[in-house]
This record gives sequence, structure tokens and C-alpha cells, in this order.
Amino acid sequence: MVHELTSPAPAPDDLRRASPSKPGWWRDAVIYQVYVRSFADSDGDGIGDLRGARERLPHLVALGADAVWLTPFYASPQADGGYDVSDYRAVDPVFGDLADADDLVRTAHELGLRVIVDIVPNHTSDQHPWFREALAGRGRRRYHFRPGTGPDGSLPPNDWESVFGGPAWTRVADGSWYLHLFAPEQPDLNWDDEEVRDEFESVLRFWLDLGVDGFRIDVAHGMVKAPGLPDIGHREQVRLIGSQQLPFFDQDGVHEIHRAWRRLLDSYGDERIGVAEAWAPSAERLALYVRPDELHQAFNFQYLNCPWDADALRRVVDDSLRATTSVGATTTWVLSNHDVVRHTTRYGAGAAGLRRARAATLLMLALPGSAYVYQGEELGLPEVTDLPDEVRQDPAFQRGEGQDGLRDGCRVPIPWTSQGPSYGFGPGGSWLPQPPEWRDLSVEAQTGDPASTLELYRSALALRRAHPALGAGDGVEWLPAPPGVLAFRRRAEGAALICTVNLTPGPVRLPAPGRPLLSSAPPAGACAGDAAALGGKVPAPARELADDDPDGAEGRTVLLAPDSCVWWAS
Ligand code: BGC
Repeated sequence: MVHELTSPAPAPDDLRRASPSKPGWWRDAVIYQVYVRSFADSDGDGIGDLRGARERLPHLVALGADAVWLTPFYASPQADGGYDVSDYRAVDPVFGDLADADDLVRTAHELGLRVIVDIVPNHTSDQHPWFREALAGRGRRRYHFRPGTGPDGSLPPNDWESVFGGPAWTRVADGSWYLHLFAPEQPDLNWDDEEVRDEFESVLRFWLDLGVDGFRIDVAHGMVKAPGLPDIGHREQVRLIGSQQLPFFDQDGVHEIHRAWRRLLDSYGDERIGVAEAWAPSAERLALYVRPDELHQAFNFQYLNCPWDADALRRVVDDSLRATTSVGATTTWVLSNHDVVRHTTRYGAGAAGLRRARAATLLMLALPGSAYVYQGEELGLPEVTDLPDEVRQDPAFQRGEGQDGLRDGCRVPIPWTSQGPSYGFGPGGSWLPQPPEWRDLSVEAQTGDPASTLELYRSALALRRAHPALGAGDGVEWLPAPPGVLAFRRRAEGAALICTVNLTPGPVRLPAPGRPLLSSAPPAGACAGDAAALGGKVPAPARELADDDPDGAEGRTVLLAPDSCVWWAS
């Protein structure tokens, strides 16, 4: 028996008509992350910009995204890709100007996309007027300045380490030290200072008045430090982020700030959202950020960090859903972003990595809650692991300690066309070199190819819009499954869907769970016969699933392909 596994993706216009604005839109939204510098370049300087991003918004609509998150485009010396802001109300000339930001927001809204912008409140740039004043000896209360330790004050005030490696303190001309949890060019603000709080509320209003739909809050867990800035007592502190509370991260005091921001967001109606980039030691601690009077979403990094292992994934899914449900929020799944190795590469080299990445994406999109998609993952782009040292710009790489410093590898400008300079990224070159093989991974090359990862994403997002059980709700119903396989049912509005994930390297036989809707992999029979035949390319999702009983009688079984995920109508 042959099953049609995909339905063609609806045209963008139909998608928009099918998705009227609904209350709590973010609860199951698919939000596409644009790393502005690497998305689309309109002026040929090799760096992506706001105009380029605006021109490419139809790609997001065709993909089926609900919203776009733009990484920082504010005035900045670019010591950390724009996460070092010198003027929070201005657009950096490299990205355009305020009129471009305004145009982008208006165009997005016309296309039915919401717009989330990044806000960077933990630190400013060292070129921010406040820090320049502080260096001149004025207004130091806005930052964390302290005398040094040791007989002549030549040692840092405490033992904290920068996330980018080395001490978290730098000494200034008069002998005192200032705190920077990231690069020295990113001095940490002191959020005990009223003026700091007032200024950020004013900045939020500035962008809300311009029409943005929300903020992704950078280092939302870091703004408040433990009183007295106590020593930690050991090195390699960055490794503990995400598993242990540190005196500079996830302090209870941050929640008061988020509550104040929530009141501000709510004063603009109930559709503007705050998204925490928060590294918390447990799902329970993370859920505190999304209590009803705090933020709307918090990235679930426990899921992102989870290995390709059925038991571990099931535990993370259960823990995450339990924690967020306990506070009445939904979970926010994410697999890739501009700070981590792309999940295609994280899950293993070559064909296996791509197979697992596609399966992990379908799994993520079947779970209740919202999902973030990082530009280029819909093309199955791998991490670029062989960038020459001289082109790297990640400050962590320059500091040579702490983080692995390889964040440039996920920031290489994405390919749009198979020809042309920078494969359609722009009319000029690209600020990081693109691998020549990316011409075959471009949006143009993959469009219309049912075997492509792009068409898999389009089909998945189209089905997610059409099927009430996808995204909605707050729980999954686990079904019995053999070792290494996950199976769960989702129900909503009288419709049901089953998701199966085979996390093993071999095919697995199961009683057919229903009528297949979409698969991340080709028929298991093909894989079982010759796994190597997969090569670098994963064959079509829009193909048949191996079905042993051509009559479709009761008791029929199916073979799940290795490292694959299938959605079934049940
Ligand atoms: C951002 C990074 C940035 C850091 C410091 C992060 O969480 O995502 O890209 O380097 O904050 O602002």
C-alpha cells in the first residue's frame, strides 16, 4: 500500500488567510531567527542588513513562520556581533537606518509576520556614552566598578571568569576594575541603579512605539548579581552554566525586573511578548521566568543540549512540559541558534547528522508549545568547521579560553541561489567565506525538490498550521515503544496525531500507528538494504513508508527508518 506522506505546502496567501490573529499567539508560534549580519545583504558590502532582510521576508512566509526574531542591529562597535550596544535607539549604519527598521516592521506586518527584536540589558558597549563617562570618573554607579585585591590592588576584585574566557574584570587607568561577564568591550550594568532601570523602560517603549511585537531579552538571567559579589572558589565556571546556580547568573532578583517589563508590555495590549534567553540550572528554575506575571517565553536549552538518545530526550520533554505547565506557560523548543554548533553537525557527521537533524526537527514541531528555527537550518546547513583563523570574529575565539570560540561556524551567510557572488546573499561577497558546496543547498536549489530539507520544513510547517493537534495543548501521551524509539499521541479539537521517532541506527518494526502524514526519511526498506545509499542527501519525505501488508488489514506493521521521525494521522 502506498501512502502519500506530504500535502503540498499552501501558497503564502492561503497561509495568511488560514492564520487569523489569535489570542496568545506566541504559545504555539514558529519563530524564525534572522541573524541580520548573515541573512541578506542589500548593498554589496558583504554584511547582511535590514533592507536585505525585508526583501527576503517572503521566504519566511513561504516557509510558514509566524514571526521573525532579529538579532541586534543597533549602533555598535561590533566587538561581539552587535551584542555590544552603544546607542539603543539607533540603527548601526552597517545595517541601515531607523527608516529601514520601520519599513521592515511594516512589511512584516503586511505579510502577517510578527517582529521580535533583541534587547541587550546586561551590558552596554564600552563605547556607550555612560561607560565613557564612567571612565572619565562620572556615573560609575551605573556599572560595577571595584578596587582590586592583593597588596597593590593589582588582582581582580573576585574570581569570576568571563563567559568568553579569562577574568571577568578589567583594570582601568586609575587602578580600579570593572566587571564584564562577556568581553571587556561589554561592561556589565548595575541594575540596582534606578537610572539604569528607567533608561531601559524608555528604550523598550521606543521600540514598542515603532511597532515591534516583542523582545528577545539577551542574558535575561544575568542582570542581577549576588550581593557582595562573592568568590566562586574554582575555575572553569562557564562549564557550570546551565547546571548550577552561580553568583552572577539566575539570581532571584532578576524576576523583579522581568515583572516590571511585563507590566510595561501589557500596557501595550496583550500581544507584545518578552522572550528570555535564560540559562537556568533546571527546568523548574527556568519556569520561574515564564510565570503569569513575568515573560511569555524562555528558550529551552535543556532540549537543545540533549544528546540523540531516546531516554534522555523523553526525560527532557517530560521535565520541560511539567515545569512550564506548573506555571501555566508553554514550552519554547529550539535546536539551533547563532551561539551553538548547528544541530545538523551536532548530531553527528555527514548523512547521519542530517538524518537526525531532520528527525529532531519533526519531533520538535510535534511537541506542544512554540518552536524557534534558526536561519539556514531549513536548508540543512552544516556547521562550517574549517574557517581560517584570520576571518574569525567571535570574541571568544580571540580570547582563546573559556568557550570553544567557534561561533563563527554557525554564522556563515546563507545561500539563496546556486550562482552569483555569495550565492545570492548579496551583490558583493560575504563577511565569512561560504563553502562552495553550499550552492547545492541554496533556497533556489532546494525549492521544488521533494527530497530537500527545505521542502520538508515547508511541508511540516504547513501541516502544523492545518492540524489542530500540532503545537497546541500542553502535554503528550506516551505510547509503548521498543527501546530507542519514542512514540506519543497528541490530541486537540477532536483530531489526533501520533509521532514516532526511531533514534536507533537500524530500522525498527512497529504495528502501524495510523496513516502516515509526513516522514523525515525515506522508506525503511531502502535504508535497511543499503544504509550507505543515503549518501549526503536524504531522499524525499514525500515518499512511501515501507508497509508489509499491502491489504492494509488489521495487524499490519511498518518499518521505521533509522534516525527518523514520522507523523501519523490516527
Ligand atoms: C548572545 C550572544 C552574546 C552574549 C553576550 C548571548 O547570549 O546570544 O551572542 O555573545 O549574549 O551579549
